[in-house]
Amino acid sequence: MNSLTVNLHLMMVSFYRPTPERHAILIEDGAFPSDSYAVRSQAAFHGYDPDEAVIRLRPRPGEAVLRTGDVVAAIGDNSNKIALVLLGAVNYYTGEFFDMEAVTRAGREAGAVVGWDLAHAAGNVPLSLHDLGADWAAWCSYKYLNSGPGSLSGVFVHSRHLADHEIPRFAGWWSTDPSTRFEMAPSVRYTNSADSWQLSNPPILSMAAVLFSLEMFDQAGMVALRAKSVRLTGYLESLLDEVCASRPAVGVITPRDPARRGAQLSVRVADRDVGPLAGKLRGSFGVHADARRPDVLRFAPAPMYNTFHDCWRAASALAAVLDD
Ligand SMILES: Cc1ncc(COP(=O)(O)O)c(C=O)c1O
Repeated sequence: MNSLTVNLHLMMVSFYRPTPERHAILIEDGAFPSDSYAVRSQAAFHGYDPDEAVIRLRPRPGEAVLRTGDVVAAIGDNSNKIALVLLGAVNYYTGEFFDMEAVTRAGREAGAVVGWDLAHAAGNVPLSLHDLGADWAAWCSYKYLNSGPGSLSGVFVHSRHLADHEIPRFAGWWSTDPSTRFEMAPSVRYTNSADSWQLSNPPILSMAAVLFSLEMFDQAGMVALRAKSVRLTGYLESLLDEVCASRPAVGVITPRDPARRGAQLSVRVADRDVGPLAGKLRGSFGVHADARRPDVLRFAPAPMYNTFHDCWRAASALAAVLDD
């Protein structure tokens, strides 16, 4: 339903219920800007100062990614005031895949609601949202789920919330029980389903892209995709390490532990403008790396269609453009 930021807001309408004592929102300092804008605007909407209400987690000095222990400790340190923990399960910039179980447990033990932005996680890493106890999640379908920019987003709401129709939410035509939709009644009738957070008719062309993409995921299976992804990303990592070894300003910042990352390696290039580098990779070598300012090139060997040879080509091309 909708697109990702719309759904983040709809989930926060229901699950960010701040009080004067408990209104903080914990996010990563390196959150996708749109998520930062969304949570700041939610805090402001409820009458709180976003600079005070939004707690931003930063890696330790000299480190590129957050340590799970530090995230858990920050939740504990602020346990009396956090209303919502909202992290990107896979960080768009560094490629770090959080220990969702540890963070979710810490957040819930602190009395906060725990939501996840799965934009870079859906179709990329294994997710067991129900089992790990997340309150809610939202994702888009235009990254690993192949459905094109602006295509449909999805939401997860934990089953412990589904029968509670008193949870505040906005309603529309699609919120009501589909079996009674055409009774044209004036009041909505919710079902015990995340479906009842829908508002509008879904865009049918986007639905077609999502349908065919998800069929491909069903055919391949996430277990097989993840297994290939770990090997593919590990192979690319070994090649990129060779490229970086003789170039001190260049290095992989994504966690080394395969359990702490998906199909993404972020290469920090400290001494060059990454935009033109990505342009040369694409224009001269047909390698689509993504430049993220200030200083990162993202390589994402998607296991559904990238090959080991693609990884070799990408690393060779990076060496060539860095020496150019
Ligand atoms: C982590 C994350 N959050 C939010 C968004 C925003 O998505 P949208 O503009 O579709 O709402 C993106 C888009 O790339 C993203 O990567």
